[in-house]
Amino acid sequence: MPEIRVAILGASGWMGKVHAMAFQTFPHFFGTSDGTARVVALVEANPRHANELASRVPGAKVLQDWKSVVNDPDVDLIDICLPDSLHYEVAKAALLAGKHVYCEKPLANTAVEARELADLARAKGVITRVGHAFPRNPVHDLAREIITAGEIGEIKMFRGCQHIDMYGDPNAPFIWRADGKLAPTGIVGDTGSHIFSFMSFLVGKVSALVAENFITTPRRPVVEGSALGAQPALTGNEIWADVTNPDATNLICRFENGARGIVDFSRVATGRKFMQTYEVYGTKGSIAYTYDEINRLRFYSSADPSGRAGFREIDVGPENANYRAFLPLPNFGLGYNETKIIEAAEVIRSIVHKTPMWPTFDTGHHICQIVDACMESSRQQRWVDIPTV
Ligand SMILES: NC(=O)c1ccc[n+]([C@@H]2O[C@H](COP(=O)([O-])OP(=O)(O)OC[C@H]3O[C@@H](n4cnc5c(N)ncnc54)[C@H](O)[C@@H]3O)[C@@H](O)[C@H]2O)c1
Repeated sequence: MPEIRVAILGASGWMGKVHAMAFQTFPHFFGTSDGTARVVALVEANPRHANELASRVPGAKVLQDWKSVVNDPDVDLIDICLPDSLHYEVAKAALLAGKHVYCEKPLANTAVEARELADLARAKGVITRVGHAFPRNPVHDLAREIITAGEIGEIKMFRGCQHIDMYGDPNAPFIWRADGKLAPTGIVGDTGSHIFSFMSFLVGKVSALVAENFITTPRRPVVEGSALGAQPALTGNEIWADVTNPDATNLICRFENGARGIVDFSRVATGRKFMQTYEVYGTKGSIAYTYDEINRLRFYSSADPSGRAGFREIDVGPENANYRAFLPLPNFGLGYNETKIIEAAEVIRSIVHKTPMWPTFDTGHHICQIVDACMESSRQQRWVDIPTV
């Protein structure tokens, strides 16, 4: 039972905690025969969290500088849960040191950087993974099975959206996500990349798009220590910082296989706590999904008898091995954190069996291409082609 030694970078943040939980938890559900993980280092720039981190993962080194772990011979996997702008630099250093790399999305600031990382990983013969976890909910395996089996025929259209209201309130405080230096592509790399990961998983590569990015609230108050989702009362003495990346995007696109897409996403949809939907229309049927029913797929088949045709609701269940690992009965409900546990189990399995699993850095590169195209299209107000080879 090989043990993979993991260093988590950005350990006190939302993803840092989720990844640590996932690595520590997955053997309870997936067993140990495909390997286990030991979190050996936690890197966190904020020194206030050092004691708490040390008690959370006994035995792990707690460090402040990521450079001190990427060359550590006692680490096999570098797990990057840092703000977006750091992904490229850290992933590159880790790959050069011959480490396997698991990186949160978006993989890099630009497609050029992402290509370099994917090529470097191939040259080094290491396993890579991007944290596009949503499609790893077993319900989307079901969607993909239906599509791959030809049950909805040739795909003609994709509709997708993802909205949150983190910034619906104009007084919601400024955090790194609104800072174009730390998150160069704003909502496009942050939330758009999730919908793009569904497009990649279910439909295929995007070959051209036209997008409009926009900022709805140009300035936000700076509140010391504020985190994602916090709504502190303002004192009136705050400094206001410029929002320097997009809040929202609307786009239409063409896929390499001829299908057409329409997609919108934002962080300013007041009242939408978390909205994520997609619909895929084919020549013989359709599938539809909404995160509000996180384990349920709607499937329409034109083969159903006239007068009886309609969307049927399918609750993903133990027919799916990843679902079965958690629950013996359908519709008990797998949530976001279970999806991350599946992801962690797959990362370790990939390393142990030397078999890359979707989404690797190559997928991360294509998603960065879509992000780049959104930025360029919006800037230049025109369609942008995406090279797909
Ligand atoms: N896959 C998903 O569903 C998902 C969800 C949320 C976030 N993300 C991605 O995960 C990444 C982290 O997001 P988050 O929400 O966890 O952010 P966060 O702000 O909660 O956490 C980031 C952490 O990194 C630390 N940090 C910043 N700079 C550092 C440095 N130089 N060295 C060490 N530590 C440093 C911060 O102190 C903080 O604790 C982002 O790239 C984001 O896009 C992915």
